[in-house]
Amino acid sequence: MKKGYFVTLEGFEGSGKTTLAHKLYHIFLKNGFHALVTKEPGGTSAGDKIRKILLERENEGLGYKAELLLFAASRSENVRINIKPALEKGLIVICDRYFDSTIAYQGFGRGIDMDIIEYLNSIAIEGIIPDLTIFLDVDTEIGLKRATTLSKSTELRFEDEFLQKKEVNGKLFLERVRDGYYQIARQNPDRIKIIDANRDISLILKDIIGLIGTHLSLKYKKEVILNL
Ligand code: TYD
Repeated sequence: MKKGYFVTLEGFEGSGKTTLAHKLYHIFLKNGFHALVTKEPGGTSAGDKIRKILLERENEGLGYKAELLLFAASRSENVRINIKPALEKGLIVICDRYFDSTIAYQGFGRGIDMDIIEYLNSIAIEGIIPDLTIFLDVDTEIGLKRATTLSKSTELRFEDEFLQKKEVNGKLFLERVRDGYYQIARQNPDRIKIIDANRDISLILKDIIGLIGTHLSLKYKKEVILNL
């Protein structure tokens, strides 16, 4: 049984998800909540190894099916080892990307059959759906610039594909992913909230904290004010 509260952060590269996830985690701790922050792909020992395979530039030619299966495997481990036990203990769990990323990137982006994506997601998540998903909506050009210039990482396989202006069925991969996110958000208006991520991080954080505070107040049936 899920007693905790589960929030996921989604969005395009360079939307600031990772920084925000860690800031949120510290805000929860500061306000007296037990919390856990995790990310996908990765978050477990096997998941971190899978992450390397998925994101390193040297695996440029990885097939779409293998890619999908690896994201699902990483998620399955993250749910089994981190997310599910933490929620059962009543923690607040923050996850930097979750199953919506697979729908946006592998489904809308790569064009893989959505039924297959849904089926694999359902195996991986064991029924754990986020209470709130924040879609950080950043301009794709700004996001890509941030992601490629700020990062010294070798984990740039997806960024390379976007910069090479790769097309899938006559449309840019990048546009397919972005449009995919909008569709997912439209289809799940109760769970997914769109936040303008082109703004200063302090404003973004304030909006997210406000949303979560409202949710937690309903959950605990008393007013929860989260101080920054
Ligand atoms: P991440 O490290 O979150 O990248 P960034 O911080 O640049 O947003 O994720 C790495 C890449 O993996 C990102 O391009 C999105 C992609 N991805 C998928 O294609 N499918 C998935 O299911 C997940 C979790 C990520």
